[in-house]
Amino acid sequence: MKHTLSFSRIAFSAALISTGIIGTGFSNAFADETIRDLAKERHRFIGTILNSEWFNDDIEPEFEEIHKTQFNVVVAENEMKFDATEPNENEFNFTKGDKMVEYALANGIRVRGHALAWHSQVAGWVSSNYAGQKDKLLAVLKNHIEKVVGHYKGQVAEWDVVNEAVNDDYNADWRSTNSVWYEGIGAEFLDSAFVWAHAADPNAELCYNDYSLEWGLREGSKASFVVEQVKRWKANGIPITCVGTQTHIEIAHETTPQNVRALAKALAELDVTLNITELDIGFPKGSAGKLTDADYAKQGHLYRQFMDVFLEEPNMGEFVIWGLTDAHSWLDEQQGKTEGLLYDKNYKPKPAYDSIMVSLKAHPASEVKSPYPESLFKDRMDCQTGNCGDSTIAIKPAAIATHLSMQIAGRTLSIAGANAAKVDVFDVQGRPVFSAKNVKGFVKLQDLAEGLYMIRVREGSASLTKRIAIR
Ligand code: G3I
Repeated sequence: MKHTLSFSRIAFSAALISTGIIGTGFSNAFADETIRDLAKERHRFIGTILNSEWFNDDIEPEFEEIHKTQFNVVVAENEMKFDATEPNENEFNFTKGDKMVEYALANGIRVRGHALAWHSQVAGWVSSNYAGQKDKLLAVLKNHIEKVVGHYKGQVAEWDVVNEAVNDDYNADWRSTNSVWYEGIGAEFLDSAFVWAHAADPNAELCYNDYSLEWGLREGSKASFVVEQVKRWKANGIPITCVGTQTHIEIAHETTPQNVRALAKALAELDVTLNITELDIGFPKGSAGKLTDADYAKQGHLYRQFMDVFLEEPNMGEFVIWGLTDAHSWLDEQQGKTEGLLYDKNYKPKPAYDSIMVSLKAHPASEVKSPYPESLFKDRMDCQTGNCGDSTIAIKPAAIATHLSMQIAGRTLSIAGANAAKVDVFDVQGRPVFSAKNVKGFVKLQDLAEGLYMIRVREGSASLTKRIAIR
């Protein structure tokens, strides 16, 4: 339909934000599709954390745009841990967790809750008041789980109920030191935690999450010990549904993808999902600034292998990377590693991003099985037209009511229902490429290269986001 556009008053300050997409550094081979698109088609969840800087509104705008454009599952780096949610006895603080859930609801993103029972980041009052007191510690942990899981019931799809409870010395046993829970209660705290979490939200997936599970199932390994515990829990009716392999690895750890596959197969026999929950593939810290194209290609190759395993194992559900950009990563801050993520410090996608996309495209949706029901994959974009059906995604998408509408004809965007709209355009990497305000009638997107973009039109509380192709 040809638009006869009336030249209405257009007072806008259009600023083509120089994106530098083709500039120095990495250029992205995929301009028309996102990880999120391909994950959704395959009924899988691929995502990353919201760093603490996001919660503190202290992060670049690109972060959120890329996050919600590229990913469909989210987890808080620190803000839903015990010390954050119950800083004082029986005084709960859900402010930051609510902020994440609101963001996820607005963008049709699944939420992981991390973590309920963990030896680390427990509020200080637990040990100082109750160390060694079994009954009190059981009451404290039960109350914590009931209140936190209850608060997020129906909004958090999956919980890391217990985190890192197996010891590190490969003697197939629990972590028995520096754990207020184990030292005060014994191993039964794990079983109880799952029972309490299930009672608080019977629909939530309940995971045991740990690191070094990617080192193989040999006798005495953490992975083999965890599989034995899962067998016992399942036999005893403990409501565990998933295991999380954190998979914090280095570029040299080339055998780990096949170990993850072996673990997935072992858990499939127990009807338990395996999720990759904290993947990063770091380089030794000293190599920062000295890495070559070959180094980044090797990192991409390893990322690709993990994605291949993930898509080929039918009981794998979530693929979560422990950070979006190298600009904000615990690796540099605490791990003596660096540059382990998909986006570089300037939010440009690295070869590892392309490798993930290549793996996704090499596994057609018709060939990828999923542990999840199809209904989980209706996201908000479907609901804008009111036909999102009865989505059971843990985040209930809310249909949006807006008087705004937009149409694109060539490079002219016409907008109805607004007198002074704010127009923002993002590329598929979620990077802002154009912005205009006080727009009435239409705006020219003259300088945008051909490709797929997300356009967001806002006026007051009304907001409309659409994906458009510039040809
Ligand atoms: O919030 C305080 C801030 O007020 C203070 O100024 C600052 C300096 O002391 O510390 C800030 O707290 C830090 C917190 O991250 C938030 O940034 C803690 O010191 C720091 O220890 C904490 O590190 C987190 C770490 O878990 C703690 O164990 C990392 O961000 C987080 O990425 C990391 O995540 C864990 C998973 O939860 C479990 N698996 C391993 C993974 C990596 O360790």
